[in-house]
Amino acid sequence: MKREIGDECSLEKAIETAINNVGNSYAPYSDFYVSAVLVTKSGKVYLGNNIENASYSLTICAERNAFFTAVREGNRDFDYIVIVGGKEGNITDYCPPCGACRQVMQEFCEEGFRIVLAKSINEYKVYTLKELLPLAFSEDSMAEITTERKN
Ligand code: THU
Repeated sequence: MKREIGDECSLEKAIETAINNVGNSYAPYSDFYVSAVLVTKSGKVYLGNNIENASYSLTICAERNAFFTAVREGNRDFDYIVIVGGKEGNITDYCPPCGACRQVMQEFCEEGFRIVLAKSINEYKVYTLKELLPLAFSEDSMAEITTERKN
């Protein structure tokens, strides 16, 4: 059965999973816990949390953690991602994805992909990647540059 973003049950479950999983972040330096639930079109679910390091730049975001797990398992038919986060794991506001994570989404996601920022199972906002990353750099951008240089 094809699952839709508007299918309240599955989306609700994904939000619930993201909220329940927020405690699995390892964030002793920022105390900011982020949890992502990446859902494929076939209904597979990949969880991700931010994992920090004393060498700060080695930190991996929750979203990229979920994406890289899915890609290394051979799954790239992404439907949507739910993101929740907050200080000490308290979800009091929406947690938008950072620029690096948006760029990783650009690499692997098609136009129909949706980004769901949630505060609770009935408080969430849905975005397209184009809304969050307009004028994105992609493989196509390089093709255009190469063609322009040749002419
Ligand atoms: N963080 C994420 O996990 N995802 C984002 O898109 C934004 C930031 C994490 C990284 C770091 O561990 C903490 O939030 C504070 O920046």
